[in-house]
Amino acid sequence: MAKIQTLPGFHDFYPEDLKIRNYLFEVWRRVAHRHGFVEYEAPTVESAELYRRKSGDEILSQLFHFEDKGGREMALRPELTPSLARMASARLRDYRKPLKWFQIGPCFRAERPQKGRRREFIQFNADILGDAGTGADAELAALAIETLREFGFGTDEVVLRLSNRDVWNDFLAEQGISFDRAGEFLTILDKLERDPEGVAAKLATLGTSTDAVREFIARDPDPEGPLGRVLADLEARGLATYVETDLSIVRGLAYYTGTVFEVFDRARALRAVAGGGRYNDLAALVSDGAVDLPAIGFAMGNVVLGDLIDQCAEAKVRLLAWLDERTAAQVYVMIADEASRPHALAVATDLRRAGLRVDLPLSPLKFNKQFQAAEAVGARVGVIIGSEFPAISVKDLHHRREVAATADTLAQTVADILAAPGPLIA
Ligand code: HAM
Repeated sequence: MAKIQTLPGFHDFYPEDLKIRNYLFEVWRRVAHRHGFVEYEAPTVESAELYRRKSGDEILSQLFHFEDKGGREMALRPELTPSLARMASARLRDYRKPLKWFQIGPCFRAERPQKGRRREFIQFNADILGDAGTGADAELAALAIETLREFGFGTDEVVLRLSNRDVWNDFLAEQGISFDRAGEFLTILDKLERDPEGVAAKLATLGTSTDAVREFIARDPDPEGPLGRVLADLEARGLATYVETDLSIVRGLAYYTGTVFEVFDRARALRAVAGGGRYNDLAALVSDGAVDLPAIGFAMGNVVLGDLIDQCAEAKVRLLAWLDERTAAQVYVMIADEASRPHALAVATDLRRAGLRVDLPLSPLKFNKQFQAAEAVGARVGVIIGSEFPAISVKDLHHRREVAATADTLAQTVADILAAPGPLIA
């Protein structure tokens, strides 16, 4: 019988992977809270109709969908934005505007698995609903940048490419292309970098050319226009060096209406780590016109972010420091002779109740092997319990120092060692 493996594009999280995922979650939450965002969650399965209304053909072709026993067409969520528009429209009066909401959870897209792309991945979504101004646009762009700064990335590593779909209306007017074809034009433009030949052919059918598009992209933004105002806001926050105007960014999703942006690695070796923009008409669309709610948001994915951290020394140092602080054992209780195990169990229980991360050998283990076990779990302190109990020998395993303690003074002795600089800080 063939061995059963994970499906293509799906991923097991072994403890070493899950630790990193939890780190991403923790940083995302921390920075979102600092910016005044509150957390929400939506179902992982939605009516397929929700995505048909406005996500766009690319996402629809990637939808995992199925029928339930009642004949309802359902889909695993490929993104959060339509669910958020539905939720906010349904209970709009219950919340003060603007809503600043964030979410962290899995999404599913039936894409061809490749570097940076999986079929199940995690997104951090942040959105502001009920504020149509460029201040909200800048607040979100700033949140995307501050999140990446918190991970340890500088201007040498990441860049936010800022654009605005509305600016292209001027181009359509100049080229005599009907506004009815704006959606079609932007979908073509979204592929400019990935498929230049295909784009050239499609632009020709609209009566324009790649040269005309490139000439338009090269123009400077109007400082009084929405793009200029978002840039000025980001400059006041000291973030201008993280931002570049790039009109070629128009985004693949069909619901975007104004400001759009994507965040990339500077070397441009990876896919976008985050992307988003304004979607002022989506709430009206999912509520059949009952609600008019301007909105803007972005999502950041775990897969590209993980690859980025791997490439950046500072980001790796921060990740390791976090893992060390939270997940490595602090204390390993060593049992010098099995007759002392009951004392060791009592000591380990006390230390755990005092809030320390404590490990110990669960079955008889040679004394020298216990030092290896302590190292393997990352313990800083070894507490040796033997026939001299309540006298206890306490070892600083990083500085190979030994201190005498008793059952009464143990907690303080351990705390003193843990408070002293360890190898990561030294
Ligand atoms: P998106 O550009 O489709 O936007 O996805 C945002 C991010 O999710 C991408 O930049 C990427 O990091 C990650 N991502 C997308 N697809 C995959 C995949 N197959 N594998 C791994 N990572 C992936 C949206 O989803 C919009 N709903 C964002 C938004 C929020 N707009 C407004 N609010």
